[in-house]
Amino acid sequence: MFHTELCRKIGMTYPIAQAPMNWATDKNLVAAVSNAGGLGVLGPNAGISKPTKDPELMAARLKDQIRGIREKTSKPFAVNIPIGRGHRRIYSDRLIDVVIDEDVPIVVTVTGSPQIYTERLKRAGIIVIHAISSVYHAKKAEACGVDIVVAEGYDGGGHSGFDQIPTASLVSQVVQNVKIPVVAAGGIVDGNGLIAALALGAQAVYMGTRFMATKECPIHSNVKQAIVTAKDNSTVSWGKKIEIARSLKNQFTEKYNELELAGFSLEELKQFIRNYHKFGYEIGRRPGALKFGDLEDGEVFFGTGAGQIKEISPAKEVIILTMHQAKEKLERLNQLSLMSKK
Ligand SMILES: Cc1cc2nc3c(=O)[nH]c(=O)nc-3n(C[C@H](O)[C@H](O)[C@H](O)COP(=O)(O)O)c2cc1C
Repeated sequence: MFHTELCRKIGMTYPIAQAPMNWATDKNLVAAVSNAGGLGVLGPNAGISKPTKDPELMAARLKDQIRGIREKTSKPFAVNIPIGRGHRRIYSDRLIDVVIDEDVPIVVTVTGSPQIYTERLKRAGIIVIHAISSVYHAKKAEACGVDIVVAEGYDGGGHSGFDQIPTASLVSQVVQNVKIPVVAAGGIVDGNGLIAALALGAQAVYMGTRFMATKECPIHSNVKQAIVTAKDNSTVSWGKKIEIARSLKNQFTEKYNELELAGFSLEELKQFIRNYHKFGYEIGRRPGALKFGDLEDGEVFFGTGAGQIKEISPAKEVIILTMHQAKEKLERLNQLSLMSKK
């Protein structure tokens, strides 16, 4: 049931992909999702123990994670590579070499032009997925030869597009404007969301926040607890002058929004974000939250769907329950349709 054309293309049993979330989506989570019949997507800094600017160390870490996934599963999985801009391309160039050398079946590119790597990846026999957040970028990705697009709506956790288009409107308009398969992302956490996404024309869902609240996800338990106790309005979108992000509403986001409204300059806002000295040494607000559990002054990325997540479960259970709920929802919709015919 729900075995879409995209499932066949990718080789997954269910139309559920686990969205990449930097180091929070490592080999253990990816393998658990792929083994359960979904698509696990490795995050760009998976396996990180300390930050590095050395592309060779990054390449070695990625190789280690890919090999680790292969030790745990023979199912398809993907690797997420942010396409760097300017000098940052030294990292993505090196990581692209690794995925080709390691014969990774699927790559999800993001942030940057899909023109840069798509042809090379496809020549290597790799399926290319590109994540976008507007119809314009979906069409551009299709024109560059990308196989699949992920439409990431404003409801989702982490960074989102400057156009701030909510998931339902974005997915349905992307589906109408491209011929390649579309995956829906942003605020989707269960079977109801899956049915809604399929009804909008998507062929699978891409869930980030839901997989943060899993046993395998290596983030701090405070963040998992914050997700399961979140309400519909617990997150806020902020950073309109910098790069739009959605995270838990807390002391940090309140202050940031106050400064932005008061007309602080871009540099002052960046300085405020950098001005974070907890945990005894220099770490950013994002690791402060996700790694050290700082719910007040950290950037606690997660999406609006958290309000519907009530427990921390094994990743496999998330997939089983999502499929079960989607089946039930569809049966109820069918009954509704039969009743209206009477
Ligand atoms: C903590 C966190 C980190 C993220 N890191 C990345 C990333 O490294 N690469 C990426 O392409 N998207 C990243 N995203 C976006 C997700 O891949 C995905 O689009 C988003 O989580 C979907 O919305 P949802 O969280 O409501 O399911 C991140 C999201 C979160 C919540």
